[in-house]
Amino acid sequence: MKVIGINASPRKKANTQTLLEALLEGAEENGAEIRLVNLRELDINGCLGCEGCKKHLGKCVQKDDLTTLLQEMTTYDAIVLGTPVYWYHVTAQFKMLVDRLYCFLEFGENPETGEPTINSAFPGGKSMLLLISRGDIEPPTLFPQFYDHMNEWLNLIPMSLGAGKSEIFHQYGTGIDRKSAINDPELLKKAKAAGAVLLSP
Ligand SMILES: Cc1cc2nc3c(=O)[nH]c(=O)nc-3n(C[C@H](O)[C@H](O)[C@H](O)COP(=O)(O)O)c2cc1C
Repeated sequence: MKVIGINASPRKKANTQTLLEALLEGAEENGAEIRLVNLRELDINGCLGCEGCKKHLGKCVQKDDLTTLLQEMTTYDAIVLGTPVYWYHVTAQFKMLVDRLYCFLEFGENPETGEPTINSAFPGGKSMLLLISRGDIEPPTLFPQFYDHMNEWLNLIPMSLGAGKSEIFHQYGTGIDRKSAINDPELLKKAKAAGAVLLSP
């Protein structure tokens, strides 16, 4: 089983990366082949909205590191996407990745029933785990209702990509200290166990 972890935190070796590494370690100990990609190290751009991909579904016209990564993602059995929460949502790097996944998808409507349809060139059935690291505690101290949109929206990712099993690992209360996760052995154990369960063959 091959597992890719993609880190959308702009901070090097901070909480999201630490937790992603723990998740991947849990999978590796169960026999998975793992790879970690840090988006901050890549040359990436947002979607141009050119719709060029709709002529050749699954092929983005851009030539940057995301184009390569998107193709690589199709070859893995399990995908872990990690992001910190910024302004009650995912980071810009994470959103760029998700927007570019649009190249695999064509959203439409069943003409008879009016039901939404997704024509996908992304291989379905993969396991997906979304890792969300946030400074705020649970329940949140300020404007808790603003998290609802992000929490709902996250479900769209595995659903649109036709994932088999999927889960969201929420980490609360890191504050702004990049070492919160590394200094929390219990949390690391929990992350490792989540990786083992979801990502093991
Ligand atoms: C620009 C910015 C916006 C943030 N917004 C939020 C927020 O809305 N809610 C929250 O809980 N934490 C927020 N945080 C805190 C981060 O989510 C938290 O520190 C996270 O663990 C950072 O992940 P990292 O250590 O991998 O960089 C914000 C941090 C930054 C830098």
